[in-house]
Amino acid sequence: MSQTVYPVPAEWAANALVDEAGYREMHRRSLDDPEGFWAEQAKRIDWITPFTRVKETSFDEADFGIRWFGDGALNLSANCLDRHLEARGDQVAILWEPDSPDEPERRITYRQLHADVCRFANLLKSRGVGKGDRVTIYLPMVPEAAVAMLACSRIGAIHSIVFAGFSPEALAGRIQDCDSRVVITADEGLRGGRKVPLKANVDAALNHAPGVETVVVLKRTGADVAMRDGRDIDWADGIAEQSAECEPTAMGAEDPLFILYTSGSTGKPKGVLHTTGGYTVWAAMTHEYVFDYRPGQIYWCAADVGWVTGHTYVIYGPLLNGGTTVMFEGVPNFPDPSRFWQVVDKFGVEIFYGAPTALRALMREGDEWVAKTSRKSLRLLGSVGEPINPEAWEWYYRVVGEERCPIVDTWWQTETGGATITPLPGATPMKPGSASWPMFGVKPLLLDADGNVLEGAAEGSLVIADSWPGQMRTVWGDHDRFFQTYFTTYKGYYFTGDGCRRDADGYYWITGRIDDVINVSGHRMGTAEIESALVAHSKVAEAAVVGMPHPVKGQGIYAYVTTNAEVEPDDALRAELVKWVRTEIGPIATPDVIQFAPALPKTRSGKIMRRILRKIAENDTGNLGDTSTLADPSVVDHLLANRPATA
Ligand code: WTA
Repeated sequence: MSQTVYPVPAEWAANALVDEAGYREMHRRSLDDPEGFWAEQAKRIDWITPFTRVKETSFDEADFGIRWFGDGALNLSANCLDRHLEARGDQVAILWEPDSPDEPERRITYRQLHADVCRFANLLKSRGVGKGDRVTIYLPMVPEAAVAMLACSRIGAIHSIVFAGFSPEALAGRIQDCDSRVVITADEGLRGGRKVPLKANVDAALNHAPGVETVVVLKRTGADVAMRDGRDIDWADGIAEQSAECEPTAMGAEDPLFILYTSGSTGKPKGVLHTTGGYTVWAAMTHEYVFDYRPGQIYWCAADVGWVTGHTYVIYGPLLNGGTTVMFEGVPNFPDPSRFWQVVDKFGVEIFYGAPTALRALMREGDEWVAKTSRKSLRLLGSVGEPINPEAWEWYYRVVGEERCPIVDTWWQTETGGATITPLPGATPMKPGSASWPMFGVKPLLLDADGNVLEGAAEGSLVIADSWPGQMRTVWGDHDRFFQTYFTTYKGYYFTGDGCRRDADGYYWITGRIDDVINVSGHRMGTAEIESALVAHSKVAEAAVVGMPHPVKGQGIYAYVTTNAEVEPDDALRAELVKWVRTEIGPIATPDVIQFAPALPKTRSGKIMRRILRKIAENDTGNLGDTSTLADPSVVDHLLANRPATA
């Protein structure tokens, strides 16, 4: 743990929206008087019908429920677009940078974006899409992804974005789970100079998801793709005749806004559902305070819209706040490792928000790739998605930010909607590696294994004591799973799945997942999903997947595989299984290590002892703990003797 404390720079303390005293006062008020605090915060949004009720929430089984601003009505897209037209219609809303620096950028003003969104919303309406209908978006990082999201929210359709790196199988499952009738995609995606066959993937997915009636296809590369008559529409043709006006639909605060599938410790990915009012207030408020954001500042969140960070901090937060948001199609190291910082210079980016995995990868390439760029426009840096190790933090701070820019290390989850534990740049003295302090309205607690609340400096399970407006409301189609997953481990509390330490100064240090979820390059994955992909292979009898430390990815994927009796495990099978998982889930789930094992360590009741598998994967084999409860202790000796050379 790093002991260094970096004070808030004087000019930040003086000019920020919130200083340290202000933070403490606001945080206290947000917990003492949530009704008053949130009624006040909700004024930042234009309401079509003002709310009279604020917080109606309970985490207890008897009266469980989460409602915020319940009788109000609003429209998110109107808050992102229409209300800015008068003052900033000609301001650039989206600054798009393509994969290759040789292609021109695009600058889309609020006025243009408004017209594009209305046209696309009218196209969706002409295909019978209305309030409450699900629309699956499978697009690369292009402005049309924002157009599609905003068009859905304009007419009350529920968008479900599927990361464009997911396989046809994964896409099909997500289309079917929410019974989506519309898919929006592109001919191909472009990332790091490589083409991704998005339309072909959609076609393959729709073989398993026949309910889809409309596929809108954006031309990105101009590749020749199959178009099915009556079902598939070219984006440009589809909007050509549509009006550039579309009345925003009044949405109840608790009407569904979007679904985003995310991995849990068991079963298939779950459709996290966010609703309109609370999410909108939370996205706008957290974006403003975390980034000390003033309208018009050039702001870049390098996440993909396929993840929650892309939803809240590439699109909705910045547009709600009248921002200029950079959308980057490419990757950090293409065509070379200066790419991020060249884009910063090109656009004069003031605020940059990225993932530790990218920073670690760039750090390895050497400082010269950073040093040859100016970066003088940068004022603030952010980190998200996984714990940032102090070494990467220090590099980010010294080399990228030249000790001038505070770093906000924001802890949150798909479920929490926006930054939940985070420094504020003008308020929080920084400790490298610590997500620091709770956001307004958030009361984190640390519990021991028996559910006792720990006080003072302590380490335990991170729970949140009471509801906040940006909280997810349910798992799509399975409200019971929502309650079971998050509110039964510790009765009366929201369980995050993360472990956490609080130091004597009240700083929170996230230690990582304590359930069977792993975080690979900031992408969250359930070990159960990868296991079920592996056992779906005809030669595999059993599989167990655990995380292992990885210098760049944070965690890597370590899979133990038992083959069927007649199969001889060899390197060819190893390669085949890697390929198999990539097609079943997607390249992000590629196993780093596959260890073949004649048997897995199990208790006498047949439960796999993952604790032991984790230790072996971590190469922490000196202390395997108590193995006496194993049905066959010799299994462990075999595993230890046969760790693959690649591990
Ligand atoms: C991890 C991403 C440490 C954590 C926004 C959480 C972090 C999971 C941080 C959620 C951080 C996210 N420090 N860990 N700053 N941010 N995490 O749903 O384990 O993709 O539970 O949301 O990422 O991942 P998700």
